[in-house]
Amino acid sequence: METTNITTLVFTFLVIFLCPWPSYSDSQEDFLSCLSVRSDNKTLISNIVYTPNNSSYLSILQSSIRNPRFTSPSTPRPQVIVTPVHESQIQDIVHCTRLNGLQIRTRSGGHDYEGLSYRSQVSFVIIDLINLSEITVDIEQETAWVQTGATLGQLYYTISQRSRTLAFPAGGCPTVGVGGHISGGGYGSMLRKFGLAADNVIDARFIDVNGRIFDRRSMGEDIFWAIRGGGGASFGVITAWKIRLVRVPETVTIFSVSRTLEQNATKLIHKWQYVAPNLPKDLLIAVTIRKVNTSGAEERKIIQATFISLFLGRVDSLLPLLEQRFPELGVRREDCREVSWVQSTLFFGNYPPDESLEVLTSRVPLTNLYFKAKSDYVQEPIPEQGFEGLWKLWAEEEADMAEMNWAPYGGRMREISESALPFPHRANNLYKILHLVYWNQSGEAASERHINWMRRTYAYLTPYVSKFPRAAYVNYIDLDLGVNNQDNTSYAQASAWGIRYFRNNFNRLVRVKTMVDPNNFFRNEQSIPPLYSWWKKN
Ligand SMILES: Cc1cc2nc3c(=O)[nH]c(=O)nc-3n(C[C@H](O)[C@H](O)[C@H](O)COP(=O)(O)OP(=O)(O)OC[C@H]3O[C@@H](n4cnc5c(N)ncnc54)[C@H](O)[C@@H]3O)c2cc1C
Ligand SMILES: *[C@@H]1O[C@H](CO)[C@@H](O)[C@H](O)[C@H]1NC(C)=O
Ligand SMILES: *[C@@H]1O[C@H](CO)[C@@H](O)[C@H](O)[C@H]1NC(C)=O
Ligand SMILES: *[C@@H]1O[C@H](CO)[C@@H](O)[C@H](O)[C@H]1NC(C)=O
Ligand SMILES: *[C@@H]1O[C@H](CO)[C@@H](O)[C@H](O)[C@H]1NC(C)=O
Ligand SMILES: *[C@@H]1O[C@H](CO)[C@@H](O)[C@H](O)[C@H]1NC(C)=O
Ligand SMILES: *[C@@H]1O[C@H](CO)[C@@H](O)[C@H](O)[C@H]1NC(C)=O
Ligand SMILES: *[C@@H]1O[C@H](CO)[C@@H](O)[C@H](O)[C@H]1NC(C)=O
Ligand SMILES: *[C@@H]1O[C@H](CO)[C@@H](O)[C@H](O)[C@H]1NC(C)=O
Repeated sequence: METTNITTLVFTFLVIFLCPWPSYSDSQEDFLSCLSVRSDNKTLISNIVYTPNNSSYLSILQSSIRNPRFTSPSTPRPQVIVTPVHESQIQDIVHCTRLNGLQIRTRSGGHDYEGLSYRSQVSFVIIDLINLSEITVDIEQETAWVQTGATLGQLYYTISQRSRTLAFPAGGCPTVGVGGHISGGGYGSMLRKFGLAADNVIDARFIDVNGRIFDRRSMGEDIFWAIRGGGGASFGVITAWKIRLVRVPETVTIFSVSRTLEQNATKLIHKWQYVAPNLPKDLLIAVTIRKVNTSGAEERKIIQATFISLFLGRVDSLLPLLEQRFPELGVRREDCREVSWVQSTLFFGNYPPDESLEVLTSRVPLTNLYFKAKSDYVQEPIPEQGFEGLWKLWAEEEADMAEMNWAPYGGRMREISESALPFPHRANNLYKILHLVYWNQSGEAASERHINWMRRTYAYLTPYVSKFPRAAYVNYIDLDLGVNNQDNTSYAQASAWGIRYFRNNFNRLVRVKTMVDPNNFFRNEQSIPPLYSWWKKN
């Protein structure tokens, strides 16, 4: 350890003071000539390669950054961005980055909470999948092949153009990419009925560290298991998913009702914990908590809970069900709307349900604010006094644009075993919390204040949420978990966050990683490590 540190120091000294640029541009140029040599069409390659010299380099880099914290000039930038249009080009990129000591970051929709798909501390190349986004729907078979550069909105839109009664159960935000989303699990308004997006994947195309292309049969069940919820970035590059579409009624019902603390919101969310996870599978009622302005003479901020719902049926069946299970919520017929499933995706994407469906295909998000997020799982209802304490933290100014999203579990999530996929949070969970804090001022000071608020809030909730481990969702990746580690890539250190994301599945992920990428080429700050002893021998 001591020797390693000294060697590292001396090396760093040499790199910084003696030869800063040559090593930088050498590997870049060697990488580019390697790509060019390997490609049988030079024009095609030069059309998809961007270095900082290209005028559109920055706009390509920033076009898929979904957290402006990582657009600042101090964020390390890639030496090269490549936007492949064929799988074979990814094979070449993998080969040429390895040959030249560069790292790969694969980017689909760019929604990674910590920006890991487009920033790295070491010299790296971005494979930006934006132009690998073909979607082929097979209505007869009720399946689709989706290339991993496509967004959820593009997928929903494409399905809706072919059928009103087929759908796919995935996330709410239409600009999220299917590459990151499905490889981390992926849930949305139909998870109680159909489970995760990853639960509905039946085949995939995958490129490994040696540049070989596999499908489900040739990659084998271990890798196919790992990439459905274990996070894609640890294993290779997934280029396409084959998904099973699900059947939905022609008409579904949505509603959204809001109650402030003064309208008994605390009592309602307390009751919600008992009701929402036990409703029939066709009904999801999620909660969003945020601060809003009071109207009237003296304007102030007040906490409000919004109950957002999708019912896979008509309003006439929904109302008696709500009257029986959750009368306190007081949902009236005029709060509800009957729409098609694809219109419900507009609603969950924060668009009016009457918005033109084409907005689903846009890669431009509705808002782009600075944010920090964390996740929690709740296994026992939180008592009312637990919420009262939370509201004191929410009274602080840093929480003015904070948000909590609660996703109820139960239903289908209760039926799938913990080890079926790497995603382990199934039965025993009442709901998942997404903690978010947004802000809109640039600079370190604002960032520090808001992140600090988020950490204090997370600390406050410790007694009320899952324990041993305090579980987390890998699609809400959080570099705070295991932050004190000197070496994030060793097995021992990685288990600090690995157990939270994957519980008992972590060990199997390590075994798959050791098999498919023993030298740890595909890695990031929280990727699955190969077993060191095995790695050393090879
Ligand atoms: C506004 C917003 C709303 C969200 N809503 C939901 C939601 O409703 N439900 C939910 O479950 N999650 C949600 N998420 C989280 C989202 O699922 C994850 O951030 C997801 O990883 C994003 O995928 P991406 O392709 O957009 O991100 P990227 O940043 O492109 O990728 C995320 C990670 O996956 C890796 N990766 C991407 N593509 C590939 C590939 N083809 N092969 C291998 N590795 C790959 C990247 O290297 C990176 O490590 C939301 C996130 C945001 C910012
Ligand atoms: C090479 O690619 C370019 C750009 O896509 C295309 O116009 C050209 O026809 C290709 N040439 C050959 C020989 O395939
Ligand atoms: C970027 O610049 C290089 C060198 O000038 C050029 O060969 C390449 O075609 C440019 N890439 C694009 C996508 O324009
Ligand atoms: C980028 O520009 C610099 C100076 O303009 C030049 O020396 C270098 O070769 C260029 N790199 C590429 C990859 O074209
Ligand atoms: C994607 O491909 C289209 C044409 O096929 C091209 O116009 C566009 O520039 C490409 N985008 C990127 C980011 O490479
Ligand atoms: C809040 O609850 C109290 C007592 O449970 C009830 O009397 C009151 O009407 C409720 N207020 C609203 C706005 O629902
Ligand atoms: C709330 O009020 C503040 C000023 O007090 C204003 O800046 C903000 O835009 C308002 N928010 C909403 C959602 O209306
Ligand atoms: C930033 O947020 C504050 C607080 O909500 C608001 O008053 C202000 O108008 C916002 N500024 C910008 C530039 O959006
Ligand atoms: C480990 O992760 C922390 C948190 O992101 C980071 O600050 C640190 O540099 C990482 N260490 C290594 C060796 O990557």
